[in-house]
Amino acid sequence: MNVLLTGAARGLGLGICAQLAARGDTVFAACRKRNAELDAILSTGKVHVIEGVDIAMDDAIAKLKAGIAGSPLDAVICNAAVNASFDTDGIADLDLDISLHEYQTNALGAVRTVKAALPSLSTGAKILFITTGPQALGKKAPAPGVYGYRMSKGAMHTFANLLTLELEPRGIAVQIVTPGSIDTKMLWAVWEAGRTPNPPKDALSIDEGAQRIIARMDALTLEQTGTWVSNLGVPEPY
Ligand SMILES: NC(=O)c1ccc[n+]([C@@H]2O[C@H](COP(=O)([O-])OP(=O)(O)OC[C@H]3O[C@@H](n4cnc5c(N)ncnc54)[C@H](OP(=O)(O)O)[C@@H]3O)[C@@H](O)[C@H]2O)c1
Repeated sequence: MNVLLTGAARGLGLGICAQLAARGDTVFAACRKRNAELDAILSTGKVHVIEGVDIAMDDAIAKLKAGIAGSPLDAVICNAAVNASFDTDGIADLDLDISLHEYQTNALGAVRTVKAALPSLSTGAKILFITTGPQALGKKAPAPGVYGYRMSKGAMHTFANLLTLELEPRGIAVQIVTPGSIDTKMLWAVWEAGRTPNPPKDALSIDEGAQRIIARMDALTLEQTGTWVSNLGVPEPY
């Protein structure tokens, strides 16, 4: 498969990149800055690093397009995201500049990624959006706060739903996937801010999380388009 992946240099994205490369897929690995961990994967497979891609910036579209260089894509994984508001207790201390950055990254960053990929997608292609747990969004959230991150993921969900409607006639499947808690830098920051009772050491490893995402990507068909799969449960209409 030819896969475009954002946030490929660290965390869950690096794990996904490594596993796809190991099984022989071609990965267009977008990142802001390459590093030794990503470079170590290059020799194991067909990984093309697209460096200097800040998905919060509009020039990401041109940079991603140039990096794909007209190659047909079988899948796009919108993985890159930022959670900078995990320490927000309530609306009183909500920092709107931080919220705007989260929106630019998590919501519009996904839009930019898809805009860049769309000319390279055709019938049978798949688009996955990595998201937070359903319990973190909406009225069932265990506690208020973390406004910016949660709102930006909510906006990404709306984008995914509208995209589903637009792309289904073209035979392109869209799915939102919650991987579960994964032992990454993001989860550590949430833990250290006292925002989760579950220590990262009890979370899934990056390898396990990456396996889950790849399993979802492999299983996704047009029949499942428009679904949200939480923690590898059954795809549910959303
Ligand atoms: N970890 C969890 O428990 C968990 C649970 C549910 C959902 N998720 C989701 O899983 C995905 C991966 O998160 P993670 O846990 O791997 O977090 P992470 O370790 O913090 O990694 C975040 C990734 O996003 C990239 N990124 C952030 N802002 C970017 C920008 N403006 N432009 C380009 N890349 C940017 C980072 O790149 P740099 O290296 O350049 O910073 C990094 O590769 C996210 O969508 C997150 O919301 C995670």
